[in-house]
Amino acid sequence: MMNIEVAKTAGFCFGVERAIKKVYEQVQNAQNKPIYTYGPIIHNEYVVNELERKGVKVIDDYEELVSLEKGTVVIRSHGVSKEIYDMLKRKENVTIIDATCPFVLKIHDIVEKQSKEGYHIIVIGDKDHPEVEGIRGWCEGNDVTIINSREEAENFLLKSPKKICIVAQTTYNKKKFKEFVEIISKMDYYIKSMCTICSATKERQDEAREIASRADAMIVIGGKHSSNTQKLFEICKKECANTYYIQTLDDLDLSNFESTNNVGITAGASTPKKIIEEVQRNVR
Ligand code: F3S
Repeated sequence: MMNIEVAKTAGFCFGVERAIKKVYEQVQNAQNKPIYTYGPIIHNEYVVNELERKGVKVIDDYEELVSLEKGTVVIRSHGVSKEIYDMLKRKENVTIIDATCPFVLKIHDIVEKQSKEGYHIIVIGDKDHPEVEGIRGWCEGNDVTIINSREEAENFLLKSPKKICIVAQTTYNKKKFKEFVEIISKMDYYIKSMCTICSATKERQDEAREIASRADAMIVIGGKHSSNTQKLFEICKKECANTYYIQTLDDLDLSNFESTNNVGITAGASTPKKIIEEVQRNVR
């Protein structure tokens, strides 16, 4: 009989759950409508579409945000730059609901403080990810470098030698973070490194690695733009060649599992429980 193991850590993390709860509270109680989120509240079309039906609009475009005159803007768990935050605060008829994850807020605090103290900031993360864009925007004088590969770490060079503070995108792969910090530590800088990968991410990655190492096939569920799901997929694929990345059940070819004994399932931080359960039921 097929054995299916679903990761205990699969699905919404604390920060995502908190952000979604805040949007639903606004749907019920907002005095200042319409309600907007700056970017989709999570990387999951299913949840975003449901919220849209309840009147929550997604603003994707910065210019559109700048020209907004009225309403409630929910800042999602990824957070935003100081400039965006201050710009919204200056708008008299706009209410801000800040759903930035506390783990991300902590990084904003660190980089703001350290860059004010003259540290050059290195963020180990994906430069195009909204969380990293937000973090960059809390560094004084934009004195910041984003590193996302071994090569970028090896080529890192500052014109005038400086003190350096290294932080990580919350959902980064811990092994890679350590590897890049090690490379930079061999250079001639004074370095302060803070592993700001959030505990939810670390636990999820460790559990996924462990399940994938025992599985004949592994399913990773999450939005295609979800960085933490992509990382989970990378980790699982290393342990189990038969790893599938899906958004919903529709993406899964169930015939792949016909002669499989042990199937593992994990999911990114923005995957609703409903989807995980549906995949589990159908694979079984
Ligand atoms: Fe926060 Fe970590 Fe989730 S940073 S949004 S708890 S993945």
